[in-house]
Amino acid sequence: MSLEKVIILDTTLRDGEQAPGASLTSEQKLEVAYQLEKLGVDIIEAGFPISSPDDFKGVNLIAANIKNSVVCGLARCLKEDIEAVYKATKPAKHSLIHIFLATSKIHLKYKFKKAEEEILRLAKKAARLACNLSDDVEFSPEDATRTEPDFLYRIIETVIKEGVKTVNIPDTVGYTYPQEIFSLISGILNNVPNINKAIIATHCHDDLGLAAANSLSAVLAGARQVHCTINGIGERAGNASLEEVVMAIKTRKDAFKNLYTGINTKNIFCTSRLVSTLTGFVVPPNKAVVGANAFRHESGIHQDAILKKRTTYEIMNPKDVGVGKSLLVLGKHSGRHALLKRLKDLGVVLDEQKTRMVFKKFKELGDKKKEIFDDDLIALVEEETRKKKRSIELVSIKVTTGTDIIPEASVKVKYKNEQCEAKSNGDGPVDACYKAVDKIMNKVIGKRVKLLSYKLDAITKGKDAQGLVRVEIKSAKKSVSGKGSSTDILEASTRAYLDAIDKILS
Ligand code: KIV
Ligand code: ZN
Repeated sequence: MSLEKVIILDTTLRDGEQAPGASLTSEQKLEVAYQLEKLGVDIIEAGFPISSPDDFKGVNLIAANIKNSVVCGLARCLKEDIEAVYKATKPAKHSLIHIFLATSKIHLKYKFKKAEEEILRLAKKAARLACNLSDDVEFSPEDATRTEPDFLYRIIETVIKEGVKTVNIPDTVGYTYPQEIFSLISGILNNVPNINKAIIATHCHDDLGLAAANSLSAVLAGARQVHCTINGIGERAGNASLEEVVMAIKTRKDAFKNLYTGINTKNIFCTSRLVSTLTGFVVPPNKAVVGANAFRHESGIHQDAILKKRTTYEIMNPKDVGVGKSLLVLGKHSGRHALLKRLKDLGVVLDEQKTRMVFKKFKELGDKKKEIFDDDLIALVEEETRKKKRSIELVSIKVTTGTDIIPEASVKVKYKNEQCEAKSNGDGPVDACYKAVDKIMNKVIGKRVKLLSYKLDAITKGKDAQGLVRVEIKSAKKSVSGKGSSTDILEASTRAYLDAIDKILS
């Protein structure tokens, strides 16, 4: 039996980044793209270049630096969108133009107010233009799972005639279920005369929690490309998560007989943590494959059986997804070598200058904490590696608080190389710090921000644990998330607020 590859298109940087509050800077996007390349993703959907200059920049930066994965950009079926993808992805070794157009009755009637024939004409024109610019074009009939099958067949046939090489079947609103998408893909294979000239892809959303199941069902029906995201992040309830789809194909070889993906699964865990760290989206502990509890066994019966034979309660080997117990306990006496080895195991590679900075901070943290865990290290690397690129940075905070006084904070920041300071009272010490920062924002920068949410967690165990603060703020219409960590929770809170503000400013 010959092996067949299931192509993985990762859309963490496009659909994933569309999740409210998940916005990344272009540099962070590049960092994720390098990690996706290491993971062995076939296609990286890097963004939607026409949507903003920042998105264009992100796609362009990724196209200029990624060598092994195809770099893809999204476009509506409009000339300016398609040309923007063409320009943004031009430096890439391999590029792909992904065009989309809604085809369901509800979208045609309310979104476009256009008839099917008009949509067909637009799709044909856009496919022709994109195929003239690139020899790799993918077409998505948006809301395909709620589209009349006969119209879907016609539009697919039309774009393939224009040279489209992949037709994606998006379950845009997460409406379908496994048997239904299986029939839909089978219907396409049986009713589109030129379907042998194209690959069928699938792009499932998780509104009913069925995204991975639907993607796998589409694969069983004949789809050979799956769109997914790391940790399943994406619009609303998110997209099919890469780790679930890939590990299902790998683990259930009996069902996915001759199929494989090119994913280096040992890099799954560190990729998950990188995306979580940069987007500020916490991975739920019970999340399949990458959750903190995914390989933990609490019940005595399970523990006993596992010791006798691991596979009694473990269907995957944690090592296969890069979850391994560290034998090295890091602390203030640990040297550079031990630190570098642990960082390497976590998938973090730093240049000489950043290594020096991280090592210095690691030693400082060692003075405050007895044991330094993996999550401490990831938080520390994240704090340090982003510092230099910030337009606003914390210099110092001084807070006076107590049970019978009104908390007062004085915050000093560096903005565009100038130091600015403000003082404020507040309902609590965090509120006082935030109000002081707000004063600086109003007076010096001329912007107002609104705090939407605030969350404080301990990164690891123990009373010396670092606090990790995540905030979501809004300025004008933009909402962004930020995070900060420190053994001092007021410092962590102020860092998180400034981290989010920095995203607004950039
Ligand atoms: O969900 C969707 O339909 C999309 C398309 C742009 C592929 O994201
Ligand atoms: Zn989508």
